[in-house]
Amino acid sequence: MVAAHGQAKTFIGPVIHSLSPSRLEIIPSALLIVDHQGKINTIVKLEQSTSSQQLDQAFNRSPFSLDQVVVIRLEPGQFLIPGFVDTHNHAPQYAQRGLGQGMHILDWLSKITFPNEAKFSDPVYARKIYTACVEGFLRQGITTASYYGSVHTEATKILADICLEKGQRAYVGKCNMTRNSPDSYMDKSAKDSLAETRECISHVKSIDPEGSLVNYVITPRFAISCDEETLRGLGDIARDNEDSAVQTHFNEARQEMEETQRLFPQFGGSEADLYEEFGLLGKRTILAHCCFMDRHEMERVRKLECGVAHCPISNMTVGGGFMAAPVRKFLDNKIKVGLGTDSGGGFSSSMLDAMRQAMIASHAREVMSEGEDKGLSIAEVFYLATLGGATVCCLENKIGSFGEGKEFDGLVIGTHGTEQGIMTMVEEDDTLETVFEKFIMTGDDRNVVEVYIQGKCVKGQRAAETLNEIA
Ligand code: GUN
Ligand code: FE
Repeated sequence: MVAAHGQAKTFIGPVIHSLSPSRLEIIPSALLIVDHQGKINTIVKLEQSTSSQQLDQAFNRSPFSLDQVVVIRLEPGQFLIPGFVDTHNHAPQYAQRGLGQGMHILDWLSKITFPNEAKFSDPVYARKIYTACVEGFLRQGITTASYYGSVHTEATKILADICLEKGQRAYVGKCNMTRNSPDSYMDKSAKDSLAETRECISHVKSIDPEGSLVNYVITPRFAISCDEETLRGLGDIARDNEDSAVQTHFNEARQEMEETQRLFPQFGGSEADLYEEFGLLGKRTILAHCCFMDRHEMERVRKLECGVAHCPISNMTVGGGFMAAPVRKFLDNKIKVGLGTDSGGGFSSSMLDAMRQAMIASHAREVMSEGEDKGLSIAEVFYLATLGGATVCCLENKIGSFGEGKEFDGLVIGTHGTEQGIMTMVEEDDTLETVFEKFIMTGDDRNVVEVYIQGKCVKGQRAAETLNEIA
């Protein structure tokens, strides 16, 4: 069941969001009216001192009056940013984060990951871990996630149910695995894999018919674990289900690329040609990692309008890529790119950590490319975590930044309160831009005071009111 509509709200306070990869807009004082359905009705920039005359003028522009809305005035040190978009996240790996660091991808999958994911055959276990996972990511301010489930149909349905119950915007997909996997952890056959995928799609459509929060994502794990019949069948399903996205792993590591080429020699080592042949590349495709991209791969991904999920932590810790993706080249070539925590492959569920690691990795690439691929700025990594991710998920018209007509997925960030151990040390003469930079570089989930999705508070003091509204 989709939650009932909430109350109209008005936020008054500083707002920071991206307009483009390099353009960060910092509004010292804004008024944002969010309607009952969670859509941003009005945004007005206010003078620093919010006179009642200015508020009246703002309300005159909207169909609301001040007494019809809940007014949320941000406290000193607080500001609003869009919710984070995690473009690549393995939900069943939530309990194995940090294990097997430094291992090469195929060894890590067979020794650590497959035995762990096999446990999701038990729906009780799946509910327990997925509840912790979705709550954990919400706490980090991740308002949208593109989740890989396990191979199991029942557990994948449970994951979709939990996202909807907890109000997280999500893509959810059952992993398709028909070969090169343990007998105890794979689909029974290609036919079975495709039938179960259709069943999961029907389930997601039945719980959220409009796709307003949760949608299906077709998820061939990677070419190594799928035979041709499965890949082709999934391409057909993608063609027939335009509201479903597609996701897979792409040019992640040498070991994976060599094995893919051995299994599919006809594509001459091009994963772009391989997935395109099976009808799996297009505007709605999210390609995880993309660490090794020659000119041909780059050109196909751009032309076919696929998005890249850049996972800077797992690229450096698991997989054997040990090399971060060429993000500067993606941005220069107008290839859609966002950030992924990857869950098990890395060690952190924090998009702030992902942003920092994206900066570090990009600076290493700048040195390695002798200055050609410039490192990423604070504005750019913030874009990747918000509007860039929304674009990768084809949700840029709905979320990722604040604009009239968009839905309100936002975070109230607090930077005062060092008594609670918040690391961000704000000084009185800091500009808002400096406070923001300190938050990005030193903040953590304690700074994420409130989380809103579609206008409803899902974390923070007002979350209890949301529960009342739904009840
Ligand atoms: N390739 C196939 N499956 C996986 C996975 O679970 N994690 C990573 N990082 N790469 C993969
Ligand atoms: Fe992954």
